[in-house]
Amino acid sequence: MDEVYLNGQFIPRDKAMISPDDRGFLLGDSIYEVIRWYGGYFFDLVGHAARLRRSLRETRIVWEDDPKFEEIAEELIQRNELGTECAIVYFQVTRGVAPRTHAFPDPPVKPTVYGFARRQSINTLVAEKGVAIWLTPDPRWNRCDIKTTALIANILPYQEAHDKGFAEVCFVRNGFVTEGAHSNIFFVRDETLYTHPENNGILSGITRKNVISVAGTNGIAVVEEAVAADMIPYMNEAFISNTTGEIVPVTRITDQQIGDGTPGPVTRRLQMQLRELIQSCDPRR
Ligand code: PDD
Repeated sequence: MDEVYLNGQFIPRDKAMISPDDRGFLLGDSIYEVIRWYGGYFFDLVGHAARLRRSLRETRIVWEDDPKFEEIAEELIQRNELGTECAIVYFQVTRGVAPRTHAFPDPPVKPTVYGFARRQSINTLVAEKGVAIWLTPDPRWNRCDIKTTALIANILPYQEAHDKGFAEVCFVRNGFVTEGAHSNIFFVRDETLYTHPENNGILSGITRKNVISVAGTNGIAVVEEAVAADMIPYMNEAFISNTTGEIVPVTRITDQQIGDGTPGPVTRRLQMQLRELIQSCDPRR
């Protein structure tokens, strides 16, 4: 019962085949999305679909069936019998199969479109206890706003952090904290929330946007300004956000304890408020 979507068809995973000349494989010439399914509905599918379409536009990958994205995501859930489970849908579009060259295929070829769904629940233990993260210089390119699968610059520092026992790596560029290898980062100081502005230095996280929105509706001030790495010791709280983990408190950054070393009250409030927003999207309520 493991069916994936590949180029217009739903097929068993073990029948799915992609050419070695696929540009996603050869060149990382490809974009992706990750959406969360909450046992009956997707959270902010509209936001994820808009970001997928933006990634396609920015990379000039043409996927003519892109209006079908939402429908395919839902069908992946249903075909894999994940309707009442917590799951994620992963979706990827590459520029397609062509002899290797840096130039786009001419004439253009059809993109390769791949999607799968898998059971994945929220890690409630880390959401409760918080995590330690590692800070390192940002080695990535200048278009971190595009959700590309070319993730080697995220993977190498992440693995280094993982080997050292940290749960995430966060990057520093020109002295300022940008984001994590697969999350956005927020700081709290004097009841105010700080996070890197939406620009080419970070991925515009769907969770980040929703955190900013619930903070606004609950009277928590938000400043979209990057925090200088040398200001970290003065921060009261920190947390990371993404689709797979929602809000995860950060209790230590490298060897700097944050606040009293436990998840802070603003982080706790935002976790609850985000959870309420997610639950309010359940069409059965
Ligand atoms: N990553 N920044 C980066 C670099 C990311 O890869 C992600 C998500 C985020 C958070 O975005 P969102 O809130 O939309 O999930 C920020 C996904 C989860 C991944 O690569 O698996």
